[in-house]
Amino acid sequence: MKIQPAKTVEQIKPYYFSTLNKTIAELKAQGKDIIRLDMGSPDLPPAQFIIDQLVESARNPKKHGYSPLGGSAEFLRAVSSYYKNRFGVDIDPKNEALALIGSKEGIFNIHHTLLDPGDLVLMPDPYYPVYMAGAELASARVHFMPLRKENAFLPDFDAIPAEVAQQAKLMWLNYPNNPTGAVADLDFFQKAVDFAMRHEIIIVHDAPYTDLTFDGYVAHSILEVPGAKEVAVEFNSLSKTYNMAGWRIGMAVGNTDVVRYLATYKSQMDSSIFAPIMDAGTAALTGDQSWLVERNQIYQERRDVVFAGLIEAGFEVEKPKGALYLWVRLPEKYHDTAQFCSDVLHEAGVSLTPGEIYGPQGEDYFRISIITPTEQIKEAMRRLVAWVESH
Ligand SMILES: Cc1ncc(COP(=O)(O)O)c(C=O)c1O
Repeated sequence: MKIQPAKTVEQIKPYYFSTLNKTIAELKAQGKDIIRLDMGSPDLPPAQFIIDQLVESARNPKKHGYSPLGGSAEFLRAVSSYYKNRFGVDIDPKNEALALIGSKEGIFNIHHTLLDPGDLVLMPDPYYPVYMAGAELASARVHFMPLRKENAFLPDFDAIPAEVAQQAKLMWLNYPNNPTGAVADLDFFQKAVDFAMRHEIIIVHDAPYTDLTFDGYVAHSILEVPGAKEVAVEFNSLSKTYNMAGWRIGMAVGNTDVVRYLATYKSQMDSSIFAPIMDAGTAALTGDQSWLVERNQIYQERRDVVFAGLIEAGFEVEKPKGALYLWVRLPEKYHDTAQFCSDVLHEAGVSLTPGEIYGPQGEDYFRISIITPTEQIKEAMRRLVAWVESH
């Protein structure tokens, strides 16, 4: 018998990094030393008090059953107090907050929650690949909003044709941005909210990097814009803010209808999050935040090492104020970003991410992540500079 997947699934490629992981495992098995500057998985651990809370809760025999769907009351209250302390935003923990199994889960599921086949999504280009996979699996249509260097990698709402704006149901935004490292100020978010209100579009702001910023820059929540909750929901995550990527915990906050529909959808899909992880998440969100300053200083030093190496190698790049990435223009002589990244991986042992996986605007770019110990990053940049000199 020939097994056929659903047509929507047939068109989906495996997640880029799952394929890359296999290639790198093979190269390592051949004895090659590979330095990874590709995925966005933090290499540093969470603060000790967060781990201690996980262990303490895991020792409690009462913490091993199913957890409340949508998240424990304590975790949702912690999300609310984090939003108040960090952004000055009021979030009703009962109606405006929902726990996610990492924000990727919510990002994927929101498409099925809100879209019927043929509905139109305004998609930044470049985009985090899960937005596109989610839209494709929901059989939605997509209109690209190009993020161009000359516009500081922000979408130009005036360039969206009126009939597109009229049809659009959902718009993705993501600042600090993966993969460009761009940031957005409150004026931009105000414009986005005005645009969404005018055209009755739901904004989903994906904001896992709000606490990963450099040079004193403080990133915003879109919910700081007065009235934003009428049209916007924000996804946030403990993965990057607290170095908890493997723990799988995040949150959706904002528009009460969107939160409720997503909660209903999820209630059929998953069975919440392990209680000790939510307890530790609660500790992370409500506990001492000062350790993040030193952690960001480490990322900032790495960013500077990568930036200096890239300039030495003659690349065109800007110093990002946030997120964990440098978005680097591919010099014309290399033509093809996937080929370039493959050559650098096989010949120099440095793993970069080809920009094309983030959409058409990424075809002339590659991405470097700063989630590897600083000494290894220095070595990777030495290798990259030497490779470029000989090619
Ligand atoms: C823009 C963006 N959104 C969401 C995620 C997913 O984060 P998580 O599912 O770990 O919360 C990532 C991870 O790299 C990301 O870069």
